[in-house]
Amino acid sequence: MSTRTDPLTGEPLAYQGEQPFGKADDLVIAGVLGADCDERLWVPQSDDVSFRPLLFSVSHGYFVNVLRVRKTGILSRHRHAGPVHAVTLKGRWHYLEHDWWAEEGGYSFEPPGDIHTLEVPDDVEEMRTLFHVSGAYIYVDPNGVPQGVEDVFTKLENARRHYASNGIGLDYLDSLVR
Ligand SMILES: [Fe+2]
Repeated sequence: MSTRTDPLTGEPLAYQGEQPFGKADDLVIAGVLGADCDERLWVPQSDDVSFRPLLFSVSHGYFVNVLRVRKTGILSRHRHAGPVHAVTLKGRWHYLEHDWWAEEGGYSFEPPGDIHTLEVPDDVEEMRTLFHVSGAYIYVDPNGVPQGVEDVFTKLENARRHYASNGIGLDYLDSLVR
């Protein structure tokens, strides 16, 4: 007997059981690649740098967001405590310490421990990159001395402050937390 289709109706056959107890809710967000989402979803991080959160994993210590940069030059120098996965959606960027470029449509992996300085070149009007960031990133000076830290909880706090006051609301924010 086929396990792919319902023997009576011929329709594709879904899993028939219960989902595991305690499983987190799934999450689907439309229009992540598009440029025309509600501007209020972009959380300002500094002048000309903002992020659109997609998922805050407080239980596993990571976050997924789209970073949008509308200026050029050096953005930050940081060290990663966990792995980072990135897909560049628009524009291009690189790290001063490496000879590769992250370009539109490309994937890059940043290993834990890597210390690097993010730069967006002069000919890029806007850069957007989807980052999956585990653990913390630690801002450092050129000698590696820690200057600050960012993790899922600091990102969540920034987004809370922004969405609580701009009409997006905390119910939307809560829907992104797992
Ligand atoms: Fe990085």
